[in-house]
Amino acid sequence: MKIDTMLVHRGRHPQKNYGIVNPPVYHASTVTFPSVADYEESKEKPFEGVHYGRTGTPTTFALEEAVTALHGGHRTISSPSGLAAIASTLFALLKKGDHLLLADNVYGPTRFRVADPMLARAGVEVTFFDPLRGIGGLIRPETRVAYFESPGSLTFEMLDVRRTAAEAKAAGLTVVMDNTWASPLYFRPLKHGVDVVIEAGTKYIGGHADVMLGTTTVKTSELFQTIKWTTNAMGICAGPDDCYLGLRGLRTLSVRLERHQKSALTLARWLQKRPEVDRVLHPALPDHPGHKIWKRDFGGSSGLFGFVLKEGYSKAAVDALLNGMQLFGLGDSWGGYESLLIPTNPGKIRTATKWRGPGPSFRIHAGLEDTDDLIADLEKGFARLNAAA
Ligand SMILES: Cc1ncc(COP(=O)(O)O)c(C=O)c1O
Repeated sequence: MKIDTMLVHRGRHPQKNYGIVNPPVYHASTVTFPSVADYEESKEKPFEGVHYGRTGTPTTFALEEAVTALHGGHRTISSPSGLAAIASTLFALLKKGDHLLLADNVYGPTRFRVADPMLARAGVEVTFFDPLRGIGGLIRPETRVAYFESPGSLTFEMLDVRRTAAEAKAAGLTVVMDNTWASPLYFRPLKHGVDVVIEAGTKYIGGHADVMLGTTTVKTSELFQTIKWTTNAMGICAGPDDCYLGLRGLRTLSVRLERHQKSALTLARWLQKRPEVDRVLHPALPDHPGHKIWKRDFGGSSGLFGFVLKEGYSKAAVDALLNGMQLFGLGDSWGGYESLLIPTNPGKIRTATKWRGPGPSFRIHAGLEDTDDLIADLEKGFARLNAAA
């Protein structure tokens, strides 16, 4: 089955639901059993079937079934946010004395909330690595996990997933990737050597800026047991309404992403021509340093990219640009139908690599508006930038 067909059909079974197209939302904590024997059996296989609200309901399982099929994985565990998926996965796979290799350009809170201080406090040592270089030289006997994104958050460098996963596998590491930028539509990490793939469903899977959701999809039943055990122990479970919204979002993911992709490329090409702009950080542009890797492995690009101004623009000038935007919202997260524009400061959190300006940098999420209107909004923003410079 092709992926667009899977997006429409996976995780729903109308004939088991009076023919109704969408699955019902099950709100549940208590689940009752017909007999002591059934009750006792449920304790033996707590992660198979419906036993208690925290371990999953038919609504949770429907979303998990769909995401598993899209990634071609063994099973999926849903979480109440992308960060919950990231934290629970890393805590499940690492323990005191272990060593984690973390790409220098991952989503900020993965490094400055989960890795340090949380994992550090639990006795896990973290080494940040340059996403553009291999990890071979950094692997130690106690290294257990390599974790990365591609393209990286804010800076959009393309890490070579195949090469990094091969180096990690040669040393017996578990390879974890946050795939939120591409979504399962444009990149399927499990097919490129990754063992565990995380999606912040808050972004494109939800798609409407109204849901917090995360998913962790694993390659093997051992990884499923390990991570599910930890999420259950931590009390991590996604709410049924949120799983429903995630499932509903999946149905239109393909058409939405196609438009996000097209609009982002239109804006990126327009920005490339602006005299104020030093460079545009978008891997689908042919002159992006990671373009070859993107082209080799990815089926498309999403609506999220960055750009960097030339040297010499003051904070006041950047604020003038941002403050007057009419269509671009100034806010975190992304993946909804609306356009966003935020200032970024990637150099502030990096340790393994240096971030080259020269000027202030920004992140754009291209929403579903008409690009003529978005460009007109940006044009006025640049006029304010120049007037204040
Ligand atoms: C790449 C990436 N991963 C994970 C997350 C975290 O997702 P959530 O906001 O659902 O916790 C984000 C949020 O912005 C993100 O950009």
